[in-house]
Amino acid sequence: MHTNEVHSELATVNNGPHKWWHRRWVKITGISVIILIVFAVTLGLVLNFVVFAPKKSETNTPVATSSSSLATTISTPLSLSTTSPPMTPITTLPQTTTTTTTQPSEWSVTGNMINARYYHTAIVLSTGKVLVTGGSYGLTSYLNSAELYDPSASTWTTTGNMTNARSYYSASVLENGKVLVTGGVGNGYVYSAELYDPSTGTWTTTSNMIHARFSHTTSTLLNGKVLVTGGRDSSSNATNSAELYDPSTNTWTTTDNMINMRYYHIASILSNGNVLVTGGWDGNRVAINSSELYDPSTGTWTTTNDMTNARQGHTASILLNGKVLVTGGANRGGVLNSVELYDPSTGTWTTTSDMTNARQGHTASVLLNGKVLVTGGENRNGIINTAELYDPSTDIWTTTSNMIHGRFSHIASVLLNGKVLVTGGTSNGYAPLNSAELY
Ligand SMILES: *[C@@H]1O[C@H](CO)[C@@H](O)[C@H](O)[C@H]1NC(C)=O
Ligand SMILES: *[C@@H]1O[C@H](CO)[C@@H](O)[C@H](O)[C@H]1NC(C)=O
Ligand SMILES: *[C@@H]1O[C@H](CO)[C@@H](O)[C@H](O)[C@H]1NC(C)=O
Repeated sequence: MHTNEVHSELATVNNGPHKWWHRRWVKITGISVIILIVFAVTLGLVLNFVVFAPKKSETNTPVATSSSSLATTISTPLSLSTTSPPMTPITTLPQTTTTTTTQPSEWSVTGNMINARYYHTAIVLSTGKVLVTGGSYGLTSYLNSAELYDPSASTWTTTGNMTNARSYYSASVLENGKVLVTGGVGNGYVYSAELYDPSTGTWTTTSNMIHARFSHTTSTLLNGKVLVTGGRDSSSNATNSAELYDPSTNTWTTTDNMINMRYYHIASILSNGNVLVTGGWDGNRVAINSSELYDPSTGTWTTTNDMTNARQGHTASILLNGKVLVTGGANRGGVLNSVELYDPSTGTWTTTSDMTNARQGHTASVLLNGKVLVTGGENRNGIINTAELYDPSTDIWTTTSNMIHGRFSHIASVLLNGKVLVTGGTSNGYAPLNSAELY
């Protein structure tokens, strides 16, 4: 038994050399393969951590560079919406540039207004909410309703109605945070003015203006009074009259007449506190090139140089450098793509580069980074949805994403978070819009 066991053991062992894995060449090959695998793994690890590692960061550099060149168009609005601008584009852009072939739109839908409206006003309150008031919803249909946009919830809620329906009117925020609305067309020509109190959400009428007017301007001066200029009077005639509202007494007083009668003009408060009035239509419904300055300390008007082009339905924006950028509008020659800059220190106008699109009844908003966003309006192609950006440091216009809707007689408001809220207006066929979008 024992022998047999040994024999069988030996037999088993002795059979060994005859198994295929005991052949010498198999062993050599096996050991070589193992050595090769170890070598390959070592080489792989070395390549991965020593050779490829720096190459990876190098190949990331061009991606980062291309995304930072995109950042001039893409990250700008993003950076404005956050308090930590540099990090937002860096962490999000490489993903979007590698996974998408088209640039994401800078525009997004936000909640619809309760009422469709155009020729309305929109005022950013100190709370960050936006008060949208009045306007038209048809050729002779005027609104007294008001609603509030809450940027944190993207929603609209009704707030108190004005006593008077108003369109073609004007609204200005006072130093005490209340909102003054004046004149317009509603149930007839409107002499009245009303004050909105954001803390109660209610309107109170204040004393009437001296002149009924619509398509006029209002500007809150640095002394807290509100300057009202021009417009059309209760006979629909253009007027050169001007008056001042004093919030401390709730009273109106006349101030000197403008040199030119005008409506659909713009009044801009310069950094020195004077008011620059530009363009508009004269008494014969002809667009004018004249501009004039109001000095609140003397209550007088002086002419300053003419614009290069006569314009109405244009925009005028105070740039961060104090110059005034005037864009587009229309005159008898048609709708304009031309742009000019007013230098308050010299009182002169210089033309700067043209917009890509001619437009009137558009908007222009100075963004927190100093660039100017121009949106919509109309030209001979109808109502447009294009938007473009002006960079004051280079005098160059670049197109940016189209708005979701074409809009004319809409309003653009720069929110406290830097985004731009565009509300209402009319679309092709002059249908009033209740939609709103964010840039
Ligand atoms: C506001 O006026 C509209 C009509 O223009 C009316 O339907 C609505 O009930 C009014 N709202 C308030 C709060 O009075
Ligand atoms: C309005 O203008 C018309 C035409 O120019 C003129 O006949 C009329 O007297 C004006 N009305 C007022 C109130 O000035
Ligand atoms: C402005 O318009 C008036 C009237 O059409 C014209 O006489 C004047 O030359 C224009 N000014 C400029 C700078 O073109």
